[in-house]
Amino acid sequence: MTTYITTPIFYVNAEPHLGHAYSTIVADTYARFKRLCGDDVRFQTGTDEHGDKIVQAAENAGESPKEYVDRISTMFSGTWPHLDIEPDNFIRTTDSDHKQNVQTILQKVYEQGDIYFSEYEGLYCKGCEQFLTEKELVDGKCADHLTEPEKIREQNYFFKMSKYQEWLVDHIKSNPEFITPERYKNEMLSFLSEPLQDLCISRPTSRLTWGIPLPFDDRFVTYVWFDALINYLTGLVYPNDQKFDTYWPAAEHVIAKDILKPHAIFWPTMLKAMGVEPYKKLHVHGYWNINDTKMSKSLGNVVRPKEMVEEYGVDAVRYFLLRDMSFGLDSSYNSEAVIARQNSDLANDLGNLFSRSLTMVGKFEGGKVPESGPMEDIDQGMQDACAKMLVTYSEEMNQFRFSRALQAVWEVISRANKYIVKNAPWELAKDDTKQERIHTVFYTLLETLRILQVVVSPIMPATAQKMAKGLGVSTVSTLADGKWGGLKPGTPISKPEQLFPRLEKKKSAAPVKVKKDKKKQKAKGEKLEGIITFEEFGKVKLKVAEIVAAERIKKSDRLLKLSVKAPEERTIVAGIAEYYSPEELVGRQVIIVANLKPAKLMGVPSEGMVLAAKDGERLVLASLSDTVALGSRVA
Ligand code: ME8
Ligand code: MG
Repeated sequence: MTTYITTPIFYVNAEPHLGHAYSTIVADTYARFKRLCGDDVRFQTGTDEHGDKIVQAAENAGESPKEYVDRISTMFSGTWPHLDIEPDNFIRTTDSDHKQNVQTILQKVYEQGDIYFSEYEGLYCKGCEQFLTEKELVDGKCADHLTEPEKIREQNYFFKMSKYQEWLVDHIKSNPEFITPERYKNEMLSFLSEPLQDLCISRPTSRLTWGIPLPFDDRFVTYVWFDALINYLTGLVYPNDQKFDTYWPAAEHVIAKDILKPHAIFWPTMLKAMGVEPYKKLHVHGYWNINDTKMSKSLGNVVRPKEMVEEYGVDAVRYFLLRDMSFGLDSSYNSEAVIARQNSDLANDLGNLFSRSLTMVGKFEGGKVPESGPMEDIDQGMQDACAKMLVTYSEEMNQFRFSRALQAVWEVISRANKYIVKNAPWELAKDDTKQERIHTVFYTLLETLRILQVVVSPIMPATAQKMAKGLGVSTVSTLADGKWGGLKPGTPISKPEQLFPRLEKKKSAAPVKVKKDKKKQKAKGEKLEGIITFEEFGKVKLKVAEIVAAERIKKSDRLLKLSVKAPEERTIVAGIAEYYSPEELVGRQVIIVANLKPAKLMGVPSEGMVLAAKDGERLVLASLSDTVALGSRVA
């Protein structure tokens, strides 16, 4: 199997930020995952260097366009190694092979009659480098750039995009995975339910010279989007190279929703006109926001990836971005969230599991992989959990649901931590008759760690390397190595390196004393007025329910609408949107108050309440330590 995965080529009008880093980490992680699956993988990223706004940015910087694009492009290519991003190809649209390729394609499409000359008037957003329709404006402004578009009327060349509208609708409908997640497919189908305009693909040189000249009329340069999209082909040396034949049928593009239209509408119709098969999949993600506003260079609220890496380390950054964003939805960035993930998921869960396991192997097993004795249920349970996790992990990774893939991995990590507590090897060590049992426990733990090393490697390559080194196994692995029983007894285990340091939370402005007082008051209050009788408590009907669907409630940052089964279906509105994304809730068992008087919240009827614990800034849903039948009474 082959995989060709690409990121957008980023405009060089400003330096790289977290949003660019996210798309590129996603593509890098997917490339590494597909290699783990044994695929022949090609991963491409690069920079988009033509057009109005680049010229403007160069002017602002007091440089010539060429000097300017060289400098900023190097900032992009120079940032990726800090994030352990390893593309196979970094393309620039100012490369001469790309320019030539664009001209060849234009000439062909022109000769077959799909490009014509005409006059046009429209509203142009420089930030988007696109004409916008009235419908797309919010209060007369571009919703992404918050600027008013310019009215432009001029003679230009047009690509007959409308000719391919019907074909495109059919293609999208008959290939359900062409555009995912589904909401973006639906958005494009709805856009396509109205007649499609032809695409203006030129700019007169009187207005812009920084572009690729049209091969059939040198009074014009190519519109930056027609130029940019073709990068995905140039990188494979289209049309005459083996690379094109090998990788193009496997093409998958990663983008954010800001550039959905060019990728879902312009690009497939351009390919159709060229006589090239459409790409295989388009993966669309949401925005990283800061205080509910999109992080963007034009708004100036950016987080620099290099600084993040310096502060938290590369793997904590990669992990955080993939774990905290449900692919397709927006996420909020704040440093507290990164620190919380680092301390709990990374330092506590994974880091501790690794270091205490290896430390104990040093102490109780002479620093070598022991030979496992007979497996008991608890050991078999651990092995089965690893096997089950591998299946879920692969499915989720293939579907770009990185957050869910990581949740499945972390279930095994927390199970392994509990496995240590339940088996208490330090107790077994005191009993001479339990030596074989100790061997089984440590073999089981080390195997679990080895399998964890394999699955975390696409997300956290550096951590996987440290783990592999500690476990004395090869750093090059395949998913097949996730099969149980890979560790050879007798293999030396190293002293564990610390995987993740614990980070201090940035000091909050609130004085500690006030908090203490509040706590005291609360404790006092509980004693005085918190008492209820057994009978009174019996009136509260607590039941186990499963969340079967979850969605945000429009205009509310706090509320989620949950559909639960207990086992009857009901709707509950819960104020947990700041702590849980809808996607991570589905499938969870929770505890609900089943006989609460129904109420309406933001117009949505709510029949019950979900129990959760508030711990400082965190909110954690109450759950049971094992799965039980839906509707079971909690008492
Ligand atoms: O549009 N959250 O380049 P661009 C998540 N050159 N991702 C973000 C983001 C955010 N806040 N901000 C940016 C262009 N991105 C064209 C593309 S492709 C043939 C040409 C990421 O520099 C995300 O991938 O404006 C988004 O689609 C892209 O950067 C836009 O980058
Ligand atoms: Mg942009």
